[in-house]
Amino acid sequence: MSLLFSLEKKMPPAVFAWMRSAFSLKQRLVLKPISGSRLLCSLYYAFFSPAFRREQQAVAAGLALHHSPADQNSKRTLLRRNIHRIEKGLLMQPRRESFALSYIVDTVNCYKECSKVDCAAEWAKDLAWAHDILVHYFEVVQGGDQVERAREIFLHVDQPAEEKGGRIPYSRRGSSRVSYDDFAHLARRRRSVRWFLQTPVPHGLIDKAVEVAGEAPTACNRQPFFYRFFDDSEALKCLRPLPRGTAGFEHNIPMLCAVIGDLSAYFGERDRHGIYVDASLSIMSFMYALETLGLSSCALNWSDIESQEKEAEEMLGLKKHERIIMFMALGFPDPQGLVAFSQKKDLRSLRSFNQPTVVPL
Ligand SMILES: Cc1cc2nc3c(=O)[nH]c(=O)nc-3n(C[C@H](O)[C@H](O)[C@H](O)COP(=O)(O)O)c2cc1C
Repeated sequence: MSLLFSLEKKMPPAVFAWMRSAFSLKQRLVLKPISGSRLLCSLYYAFFSPAFRREQQAVAAGLALHHSPADQNSKRTLLRRNIHRIEKGLLMQPRRESFALSYIVDTVNCYKECSKVDCAAEWAKDLAWAHDILVHYFEVVQGGDQVERAREIFLHVDQPAEEKGGRIPYSRRGSSRVSYDDFAHLARRRRSVRWFLQTPVPHGLIDKAVEVAGEAPTACNRQPFFYRFFDDSEALKCLRPLPRGTAGFEHNIPMLCAVIGDLSAYFGERDRHGIYVDASLSIMSFMYALETLGLSSCALNWSDIESQEKEAEEMLGLKKHERIIMFMALGFPDPQGLVAFSQKKDLRSLRSFNQPTVVPL
């Protein structure tokens, strides 16, 4: 398929249209008979189609790293996950007398390891949060062998440098200062912008938007993604042609962003989609934040095409467990540039309540 699309620009439109319908017919004829059987699907994708190979390798590389005792980044993710599990235990109603027993020793050991790491300055807030949650946990939990062992280890860990205290579950009083109308206005105003002024984008504004993006929810608070920005002319020259879907406006993109997912955040294969879900939630916040700062954006399609993936892997120096979630074009919108109307679904096509009715077994 990737070959097919790379031929698009080189062949007459009618020939390309014919090839595309032939491809579609082939997909239908092959996939229809096997799609009812998981085994046949597995055999097909194992022996006849390489479509999932890069993805599978990335998942395997991520799991291997996650379970490697030497990998610092995975430790940090594990700490975030476990500390978050403990804070959920702390806010439970009613709170159980003892909880987190099966992983408290591992968590405190992980906290101890993370406290020793050289780049701990970057982790200072995570460590202060872990510290506060663990102090609170040991104050309220009912003892037992596991808890006593964990407490003993915890007492011998150096205190984090970052200001401690207060990073524990709290009561969220008051209400949002953003009205529904203001938010709806922002949502309706944001549109994919493809025409930008050639004005440099201040990095300070990007940082402000990323700080908002970092507030997004993520599964078990793992935060398994990273934003990379490029506005240097050399980098733009190399990277702008990479994502497809920029035909006609590629040359005027003043800044490109690549959001990278980190598959080493997961213990098992079942969570492999987390990078896409978590990063996408964050990206939406990022886009809204850009709008409030006078900047605009356009998500750029990133399909799993081997040749394109390989090029991106080399240009961005990606590791096997890192996946590109999305590229984005961004900058100050050109006031002369038009945006597409992009009709949104009608409310009735967008949601249902209690339908279909679930019949209890
Ligand atoms: C994941 C994703 C990939 C997209 N890829 C492209 C792209 O490659 N080129 C492009 O011009 N627009 C792209 N878009 C923008 C969509 O065309 C646009 O979001 C959609 O038409 C709705 O319009 P709106 O964003 O203005 O509301 C993409 C959007 C998403 C969410």
